[in-house]
Amino acid sequence: MAVSSPEGQGQFPLPKILTYPSSTPPTLITQGAEGRVYKTTHLDPSRPCILKYRPPKPYRHAILDARLTKERITAEAHVLARCAREGVPVPAVYATDPRAGWMMIEYIDGVPVRQAINEFLGKRPETDQEKVAAEETDNVPLIELLRRIGATVGGLHGTGNVHGDLTTSNMMLRPFSTTIAAEGSKARMVEGDVVLIDFGLATQSSSEEDRAVDLYVLERAFASTHPRAEKLFQHVLDAYEKSFKKAGAALAKLEDVRRRGRKKSMLG
Ligand SMILES: Nc1ncnc2c1ncn2[C@@H]1O[C@H](COP(=O)(O)OP(=O)(O)O)[C@@H](O)[C@H]1O
Ligand SMILES: [Mg+2]
Repeated sequence: MAVSSPEGQGQFPLPKILTYPSSTPPTLITQGAEGRVYKTTHLDPSRPCILKYRPPKPYRHAILDARLTKERITAEAHVLARCAREGVPVPAVYATDPRAGWMMIEYIDGVPVRQAINEFLGKRPETDQEKVAAEETDNVPLIELLRRIGATVGGLHGTGNVHGDLTTSNMMLRPFSTTIAAEGSKARMVEGDVVLIDFGLATQSSSEEDRAVDLYVLERAFASTHPRAEKLFQHVLDAYEKSFKKAGAALAKLEDVRRRGRKKSMLG
């Protein structure tokens, strides 16, 4: 959707940086509860970027709102920068203006992992009701993707950060530079590096409990987004276990977190 349209423009003025002559007219990608995500360019029209913008919330006290917005943008940009420094695959931070409520980050040219998995599953010959069997050879490319997810989350945790909102929508699949699968093949849909995005709820933590909660959130999100592949989730955890020294302890804690989750759902 082009921002020049009335829906794209909305009730808030665009951040000033988007009026610079070198920036390409922004396209609104999503509009969530907290903010908007645009695609535009940074400094050079050939360098695509994502602009995350948190507009002022008229229903919130103005001074409090300005402070919260500034803190959240700063926190998100800090975690991204920290991860990038440690070699965790995340978008690079290009520019931030926490007071104005925006940050510009690297555009990841790929599809959300959610979409890749669903397209892969959609191409299966089976009927919708049928669950994907854990041992099917047909699933090998998907299993490899799940293993890359586990390793990437482990890499994040190993650097002392937790994500806070792990879902397959908050991961992008960036195609490998040298593609292995043949063009048009099903395997190609799930090939690529997993890049973690959306660090709005991320925090610095090395606690087993926080790591386990991160995994639990992903496990639940996975089961509801990809019910047909629920049985394959174990591959995420298997790869996670091998990805850093303390992973085993986090997985042991995951058992407790699941138990608590079950108890809570029984109580309603
Ligand atoms: N760096 C990026 N590169 C490409 N697409 C992105 C990037 N960041 C976000 N997106 C797209 O915008 C969507 C929303 O961004 P996200 O950071 O998850 O914000 P929200 O808090 O609204 O969920 C993502 O699901 C993805 O499709
Ligand atoms: Mg998101």
